[in-house]
Formats: sequence, structure tokens, C-alpha cells
Amino acid sequence: MTDSITFTVQAGGHLQGETRVPGDKSISHRSIMLGSLAQGTTKVTGFLEGDDALATLRAFQAMGVKIEGPVKGEVTIHGVGLNGLQASKEAIYLGNSGTSMRLLSGLLAGQAFDSILTGDESLSGRPMRRVTDPLSKMGAKIESTEKGTAPLTIRGQAGKLQGFHYDMPIASAQVKSCLLLAGLYAQGETSVSEPAPTRDHTERMLTGFKYPIKQEKNTATIERKGELTATNIDVPSDISSAAFFLVGASIAKNSDLTLKHVGINPTRTGVIDVLRLMGANIELSNQRDVGGEPVADIRIRSANLKGIQIPEELVALAIDEFPVLFVAAACAEGETVLTGAKELRVKESDRIQVMADGLKILGVDAQPTEDGMVIHGGTIGGGQVASHGDHRIAMSFAIAGLRAEDTIVINDCANVNTSFPDFVNLAGKLGLNISSEK
Ligand code: S3P
Repeated sequence: MTDSITFTVQAGGHLQGETRVPGDKSISHRSIMLGSLAQGTTKVTGFLEGDDALATLRAFQAMGVKIEGPVKGEVTIHGVGLNGLQASKEAIYLGNSGTSMRLLSGLLAGQAFDSILTGDESLSGRPMRRVTDPLSKMGAKIESTEKGTAPLTIRGQAGKLQGFHYDMPIASAQVKSCLLLAGLYAQGETSVSEPAPTRDHTERMLTGFKYPIKQEKNTATIERKGELTATNIDVPSDISSAAFFLVGASIAKNSDLTLKHVGINPTRTGVIDVLRLMGANIELSNQRDVGGEPVADIRIRSANLKGIQIPEELVALAIDEFPVLFVAAACAEGETVLTGAKELRVKESDRIQVMADGLKILGVDAQPTEDGMVIHGGTIGGGQVASHGDHRIAMSFAIAGLRAEDTIVINDCANVNTSFPDFVNLAGKLGLNISSEK
């Protein structure tokens, strides 16, 4: 069990300077998965040394892959090829990490051995039928609890999976990636169509590993064809971690902050679009391509934000950033309305309810709706709020401290380690008055 951690944030401050936030979580997961399945040695730099990506790394070590590191973000993976994984001797514990569980369930469905995937309390409550249902249509044999949750027992069906076409009912990169990974082991074509664009790191990285994947409009198609070829991966900074500072420097007076080497894959930049619509002052420079992923330096200066109706087409592109965008809305003039974001209710916590509860404690007029929130901007007071063990909720309320009138205490913050282990130290250096106690 991890220790319980409480953040205390003194009101006020501003964000100044230049920094690099940690590596992208989604890309870090995929670098371990595809590096392990490749032929040859893959070197990863900028790897996120957070609990979630480390859970994926340990899972592959448990399945017999030799992986060195991480040391200062460097990982060396000695790939075993598509058929080189071995059964883990024990159940594979994936902690808080939904991405690990959903992607692994696809990848393990077509192996020659059985696997058991388990997780912490939050992960064990999250819906898994969204992957087990389509996988079973491919011939996968996966048992879950009656509620359709973990633990998952996967009976490997080597050589028996059948490719198929799936029209995803929800926009989910985890479901898409899960099925594409199962498609590596299936007979015939596996194709997945998405109702709205979702992050395409799996598709881009497969191309980087010289594995053929077709992309036509909203459909990705893969087929069992040869092997992945090892490559080197430079993981950009995570825009989802940068988002806390994009909002923080926007809402705190006299802020001027530059974040270096941030991934700006167009399937991830909804947070920039939403903030710009609210009047944020965000400049991108030094745009470049790093191993198939676009990257830029981002400068953010204080701005007077105004409330907006958030366009629904931006929801999937900013899906992990709504907790902190709600804080931006609380500081904006007028009303901000989010709709079409029901998925937020099944993230690491129910992010609609948990954010509304915390914002209300801080005196903000925040009304949760079935699929979003209505927030009237105003002043943020102080108080004690619960993060419900959700890393992004904890960091969002910490950022709220920049505009609060009194101290904010945030409970249950240990899971900040899943995505941003150095948050307290880095945020403190940039100007947030934050401390952390066990
Ligand atoms: C992720 C996809 C998203 C996102 C999660 C990471 C990924 O989940 O919320 O943090 O790495 O594929 P969904 O696919 O459930 O939307």
C-alpha cells in the first residue's frame, strides 16, 4: 500500500521560468509494449518514470523481456519478437493504470499462454467490457467479474483470433489500441473506426517500428504481417502534464512560463484550443518532428480568461485535461459549459462529480451535469478537498491555489506519482507555494 500524501498550497504566487515536464505517459507505455514485441534492441529516452508506465515495464519484465533502466529517462529494451513473450509466473499487477490493462488485454489475447491482470481499487472499478466485448468477437477468451471489471483472466488463443471490423461506440484510444494490438495476432484484417479522432500514438509508433498500418479517414487497419523492427524512441514531454502549467500561468497574474519539448500531436492539443478560445496567451515555437511525433516549445503568459461553451469536437482531444480546465473556468469571467464528456465519469475517478464537489468546497459555482459541467467564474476560496486518489484531480486543485484567497489542502495525493512524480518540486520551483506531507 502506498502512503497517504497531503498537499498544502498557500494562496497566490505566479509561474515564471523555463522547464521541461516529464515524458508522455501514453507514448511511454507504448514504447515498452512495441519495443518488447520488436526484433532487436530499442533505446528509449525521455521515458516517464511514473508508476503507470513502470507498471507496463514490470509487466513485460515478468513476461521474460530483458529491460534495462529507467535511468534518467533512458530505457533499453531487448525485444523478443511477436512470439517471444513468456507466461508471467504471477498475476500481473498494473496498479492505477487503465492504459496498461486495456492495451495488454488485446496483446495477451493472442498469446500461447494465459495471463491474469489485476489493479488497485480504482482500476478494479473501471469498465473493461469496452475491450473484452469486441475482443471476444475476435475469438478471445477473457473472464472478468460479473460487473465486467478486473481482475481479468485471459486464456491465450494463439493462432485462433480472427480479424474483424469494429465501429467503436465511444471515442477511446485505449479500445482502438487494444484491438490493433490483438490484430497483430489475428488472421485477416482487423480494422477499427472511431466516432471522433483519438490519440494516434499506437499507429504512429507502429509505423516507426516499420510495421504496416493503414489509415483511411477514421479507420485504422492492421494485419498479421511479419515483425516489428527495433528503433529508438525520444519521448516528448506530456502535454497532459504541461496542461497544469498552461492553466496555472494563464490564471496567475504576472506569469510568463516556457515549457520545452512538449508533444503537440494534433490528437492531444484540445487543451490549447480550449484555452485559446477562453482568451489565453499561448505561443508555440521551435516546432519540429521527433521520431514521428510533433513537438514544440510553449510560452504562456497571464491572461484574462472568459467563459465559453466548449465545442464538443474538442472533448476527445482534451479528455484528460478537463479537471484543470474546470479550474480555468472557475477563474474566467462568465459561464463555461461542457457537454458531451460523459467519459469523464469513468476515468481514474468520476472527474465530473469529484471536481464539482471540490470546487463547491472552494466556493465556486460548479454544477455537474450528466455529461459535463456548468461553471460560473468568480473567486476561489480556501478549504480542504478530496482528490479521491486521482492524480489529475490532485494537481488541478493545487493549481487552483494560484488564484485562491486562502490555503487549499488536498487529500490522497500519492497517485500524482502515476504521471508526474516530480510535480511538487517542479511546481514549487516555478512559483507555486506547495508542500507535501506523508
Ligand atoms: C489513453 C487514452 C485515454 C486517456 C488515457 C490514456 C491512452 O483513455 O484518457 O489517460 O494512452 O490510450 P480512453 O481511451 O479511455 O479515452
